[in-house]
Amino acid sequence: MSPHAITQLEPGFTLTQLEKPVGSKYDFGAVVEGLDLNSITDADVKALADAIWTHKVVVVKGQKDLAPIKQATNTNPTVGTSNPLRPQRPPSALPRRHQVLQPKGGVLSAAREVLGIPGAENVRLIGKGYQGADHYGIQDKTLHKALSHDFHAKPLPDAEFAEGFTRFQRWHMDAPLYGPRDPAWFTTLRCCRRPCADADANKPVTIRWDDGSGLEMESEPGLTAFFSNVQTYGLMTPEEQRMADHSWVEYAPHPYMWIADCRGRPNGLGLETEGRERKMDEDLGDFDPAAVKRYPMVWLNPVTGEKAFQVHGICARKLFLRSSLAEKARVLDDVAEIRAFLKRIQERVLRPEYILLPRLDEGDIVMWANYQMFHTAVDYPISMGPRTMHQANIGASVGPRGPVPIPAET
Ligand SMILES: [Fe+2]
Repeated sequence: MSPHAITQLEPGFTLTQLEKPVGSKYDFGAVVEGLDLNSITDADVKALADAIWTHKVVVVKGQKDLAPIKQATNTNPTVGTSNPLRPQRPPSALPRRHQVLQPKGGVLSAAREVLGIPGAENVRLIGKGYQGADHYGIQDKTLHKALSHDFHAKPLPDAEFAEGFTRFQRWHMDAPLYGPRDPAWFTTLRCCRRPCADADANKPVTIRWDDGSGLEMESEPGLTAFFSNVQTYGLMTPEEQRMADHSWVEYAPHPYMWIADCRGRPNGLGLETEGRERKMDEDLGDFDPAAVKRYPMVWLNPVTGEKAFQVHGICARKLFLRSSLAEKARVLDDVAEIRAFLKRIQERVLRPEYILLPRLDEGDIVMWANYQMFHTAVDYPISMGPRTMHQANIGASVGPRGPVPIPAET
């Protein structure tokens, strides 16, 4: 797809909206050119943050020479000195410049090999295969435990995977959902090396839903898939939207430990209910009730005002449902009912026409609005070559806000 220029932002870069292929229905995606993140100004950080909130997924071209330490700091609007997104909290409550990542742990790091870049540990090396003789100080490393389809309750047969069939791994937002930190506003992912870069760059993988829908779509290997939960909200009925506006979610304590043994649906969205959740008291041990997270079902975009149906279903322990401020909330605390409720709403957007897998050249960074999007990795056969990515989350100075406040007590 060839983007067309729509905006020239002052002073530093050009923003272009992605031109969409015929038949697509996704309404997000833009490209930034003419920007060097090694030396970005506060004004450009503000403009870039606005672009991410507005376009939700932004590919910043040409950052091949970006110093890893700059990835998590120079794009963070909460640590600038002069921009209007500067947080409302006192400075002492802010994440320090090098401490903007979410705490480690959980299913992701247990199942995948994740290494911090030496000297910039908040930037994590993610990938597959041989990473080279010396990758920013990581020497002679081969990532063996890369993505796999182990997560799916109904696994993709190895022979089909080797032929280039694959699946969405696990749709999610990047969020600890327990403890002191709110989810990161943005995630940034720099492509250092991608599969098939040297050989057949157009060799596709075929992503199958394998959920009985018959849906599938093609992609280059090694890309990340996105859909917008603003569009999920838009696909809800007015009655459902009113309910979502007034409802909220309680996430499990230590949510990723809680679901560590659970397995996912074949399309990567949500868990199968197989009774594999760990027991709260016996398996998870003590937890701090004050650290349990309750978030609105609907998250407001602070720049555009858009509403996103932003529920991380795999970690949800209770839903509190009501359709007005006056109504007493009905509590759903059965995980099968919670998952069925969310599946009915969230699967509407899980169709090829709503999904974007933005193409990245080596040196490009994709940045996304974590409060509006779901994303997932898509695995590929190692025969297509190694993959090297640098991921950094950009911290939140203000957590998610819904259309109405959540009651303090229920
Ligand atoms: Fe993620």
